[in-house]
Amino acid sequence: MARLSVNVDHVATVRQARLDTEPDPVTAALMAELAGADGITMHLREDRRHIQDRDLRILRETLKTSLNMEMGATDEMVEIALELKPDLVTLVPEKREELTTEGGLDLGLDMARLKGVVATLGDSGIPVNLFIDPEADSIRKSHKIGSAGVEIHTGAYANASDPGQREAELGRIGDAVILAEKLGMKVHAGHGLDYRNVSAVATLGGIEEFAIGFSIIARSIYVGINEAVRQMKVLVAAGAD
Ligand code: PXP
Repeated sequence: MARLSVNVDHVATVRQARLDTEPDPVTAALMAELAGADGITMHLREDRRHIQDRDLRILRETLKTSLNMEMGATDEMVEIALELKPDLVTLVPEKREELTTEGGLDLGLDMARLKGVVATLGDSGIPVNLFIDPEADSIRKSHKIGSAGVEIHTGAYANASDPGQREAELGRIGDAVILAEKLGMKVHAGHGLDYRNVSAVATLGGIEEFAIGFSIIARSIYVGINEAVRQMKVLVAAGAD
């Protein structure tokens, strides 16, 4: 049964719109946990556009389940992760001008640096996933870098505009899962997944955890976070539509 890690970044986006103290992403995270989330994801961006350092610190002290810290592979973030000790670090590419993470890591460009970051965090007992596009070359490079696992970028699948393209993208994800498993890596997946498109990915099998944010936070405006998490948890766990 796949796990659900709820990304609460967009609760912080609303808070930061007024630079206020609410809505608090930590409160939302703990409510998501009570509703059945298996873990929480927070992305501490270099520009601190949504999640703030205190959010991660307080969540680390209060969360009972698993904390996934998403971050760029910078010296500043490595230092914070070493202090915070999240249960998992997911390394992502980060561009200041992007609305959200746009693609997987460019492993060719960053290989030496990523290897160093993965080793440093690993020596401290923190497993690392690399966020990559569903490509065989990226899976093999992730294995060479020594990451515990990969998070497969599902954005191209989620954004596919016609059924043929969507099927093809789903096939790429399926192939990537099989290869990563063969190499002994843990497989997570996320980005752009919602209540309509997640089931097809969940039914592929082999994906241990889904990191889902925007669609859950958006739905929680209508039905509350408790109900929004429960509904997504059912889809992720059963692979049903
Ligand atoms: N996984 C990663 C690596 C991400 O960067 C994001 C977006 O912050 C997500 C998952 C969640 O994506 P979404 O908010 O579209 O569900």
